[in-house]
Amino acid sequence: MKVAIMGYGTIGSGVAKVLDTNKDIIKERLGEPLEIKYILDLRDFPDDVHAKCFVKDYKDIVKDKEVKLVVETMGGVEPAFTFVKAMLEAGKSVTTSNKALVADKGAELMKIAKDNDVNFVFEAAVGGGIPIIRTLTACLTGDVIEEISAICNGTTNYMLTNMEQYGSEYAQILSEAQSLGYAEKDPTADVEGHDSCRKIAILTSLVSGKNVDFNDIPTEGISKISSTDFKYAKSMGYSIKLIAKSVKCGDTYSCRVAPFLVKPEQMLYHVAGVMNAVSVRGNMLGESMYYGAGAGALPTASAVVGDLVFLARNTDKHVRIGWANEKLELANPSQQKYRYFVRTAALQSNIENEFDEVKYTDLDLDDETAFITAEMTEAEFNERKIALGGAKNVIRFF
Ligand code: HSE
Repeated sequence: MKVAIMGYGTIGSGVAKVLDTNKDIIKERLGEPLEIKYILDLRDFPDDVHAKCFVKDYKDIVKDKEVKLVVETMGGVEPAFTFVKAMLEAGKSVTTSNKALVADKGAELMKIAKDNDVNFVFEAAVGGGIPIIRTLTACLTGDVIEEISAICNGTTNYMLTNMEQYGSEYAQILSEAQSLGYAEKDPTADVEGHDSCRKIAILTSLVSGKNVDFNDIPTEGISKISSTDFKYAKSMGYSIKLIAKSVKCGDTYSCRVAPFLVKPEQMLYHVAGVMNAVSVRGNMLGESMYYGAGAGALPTASAVVGDLVFLARNTDKHVRIGWANEKLELANPSQQKYRYFVRTAALQSNIENEFDEVKYTDLDLDDETAFITAEMTEAEFNERKIALGGAKNVIRFF
């Protein structure tokens, strides 16, 4: 089977490395070898072992009927979408690691794949090396998925873990993460939760069977979390994690991405550093959790190559996963209920007037009071918070 790789960056070159290193075991498992025929990249790699495979025009791949399997590891929505669409329409199956593409155009590309009797798969787009997509679309297809809660961004989990362990401030740990290569030069997508938002949108689309627009998911990142928040969390016996959450709510799902306070009895509390974990609750299965490397060249490339073997085994048919190109109206997030940890400069008498039942959790800081509310809806909390005159920071309990 001949393979083309589009994009020879960190992940694309990792895919070549996995195919080269494990070529014998892949051949044995598949019954034939997977051979790289083309690598699409605008740059030149004259010293690369695959130097002869490089092309600059994606149409060279489109018109070669011998190539049935294509890897997309370019990133971003365009031109990846145009290239992937052309490959599917030319009767080639595609695997991508590109969550921006899958979150934005996944349902559309799935339909194009179905119309052309080929497959479009994306194991590496969520959780890197954690096989969560095939778990949901194959192993757990007998279950109604009632809840998914995920730490699915390694950059922010690394930063929060370090803030917790060393008492560092956000800005300091961000610059350290950037110098170690864990955070991008422009870290917005990670630290503001956009990356986690796209990932939970993809997972929710898969379990609901309809298309979730990631713009509909309320998303907060970690940029407002400070070392003081961690001091409070520690004094309460909690940690703070950026969690992407999707909960079944009638015929739809209720989603949110935000930092949450988690306690040691909750499994996500123990997920540290760059590691990811996805907790899934099925109506028959109960709880299960999938843990592993959520990013990095080889873990991500391993997932892409696993997809290639799946595609090679299914070249003659489209394998339905039930992701319709029809919008899922998410449940109203203002009806989600939480207990809230609040830091405010307001007087205790005002706090009690607005929130009735509160539990104080104090660090004896001069200019603020911290308290925990009873459980209430987002709508109710926001009304009371406005009446209080705002808050310095608010973190939900998971
Ligand atoms: N920026 C992502 C992360 C990479 O930190 O997890 C994997 O999607």
